[in-house]
Amino acid sequence: MSIAFIGAGNMAGSLINGLIESGTAPREIAVADPVATQLEKFSALGVSAAASNDSAVEDADVVVLAVKPQVTGQVLTQLSGLKPHQLIISIVAGIDLRSLKAWLPEKQPIVRCMPNTPALLGAGMTGLFANKQVSHSQKDSATHILSAVGEVAWVTKETHLDAVTALSGSGPAYFFLLMENMILAGQKLGLDAELSKKLTQQTAFGAALMAQNNDIDPGTLRKNVTSPGGTTEAALNLMLNEGLPATVIEALTAAENRAKELAVEFGAKS
Ligand SMILES: NC(=O)c1ccc[n+]([C@@H]2O[C@H](COP(=O)([O-])OP(=O)(O)OC[C@H]3O[C@@H](n4cnc5c(N)ncnc54)[C@H](OP(=O)(O)O)[C@@H]3O)[C@@H](O)[C@H]2O)c1
Repeated sequence: MSIAFIGAGNMAGSLINGLIESGTAPREIAVADPVATQLEKFSALGVSAAASNDSAVEDADVVVLAVKPQVTGQVLTQLSGLKPHQLIISIVAGIDLRSLKAWLPEKQPIVRCMPNTPALLGAGMTGLFANKQVSHSQKDSATHILSAVGEVAWVTKETHLDAVTALSGSGPAYFFLLMENMILAGQKLGLDAELSKKLTQQTAFGAALMAQNNDIDPGTLRKNVTSPGGTTEAALNLMLNEGLPATVIEALTAAENRAKELAVEFGAKS
């Protein structure tokens, strides 16, 4: 499978590194970007640095679109010579299938994905949705490519990608906010900043590892560490009484609504 990347930024870099680490031959990968210096690091890996987007996609089985939302329409409408069998994988946030279809030849197989920032460290979570033109083997190709930067999950309705955006796409920031405030709280309780940060980081890491065990859900884990009348219960009671569960639902709903608005703002004008 030969793979062309349009856009040689952070996400493309992580995907290319992940693919090479998981056994893809660098010569099977081509990458295009208007800034020549962006391409040098890829050439050094043995990846083919294409002179233009058109030449990158020429012999590709799969084209990964990894540019910013603002330039997506221009990039796709200027691509010439796309063949009907070439799979387009868009990782562009906020550009829906309606727009991608408007900018691409009719009946082009398209997979739309929503990765998240931990993909930059190979620990991402990506939601994927395919249009009707995508074959089983092309879905397998998309799974393979996005698995290079973490876990993947397919959704059966495109609207569910807005929920994925709200949950895992924006999710890292929710945990960062909690961590940020735990660090501040530790300092308010008298710990120095460095120690407060270390305690928070390692606690988040350990809790995430425990929560990855699929045999015990997070609610049970929470109950297991909450002794009646103890310190954890004192903190959790306050969070629950202050309405944290409802706030989380409202926050994710706000993110989902914003994802829908962005699709209109950045999308094809029809
Ligand atoms: N980073 C994340 O955590 C994350 C998470 C989810 C989704 N995404 C999506 O992934 C996409 C890429 O994100 P990123 O963080 O990798 O962005 P990025 O680092 O800005 O990469 C985009 C690259 O595309 C290049 N580019 C601009 N115009 C182009 C053109 N006409 N043809 C070819 N390449 C062009 C840019 O070059 P210049 O720098 O010269 O403009 C840049 O190197 C975005 O749509 C974003 O929404 C990213």
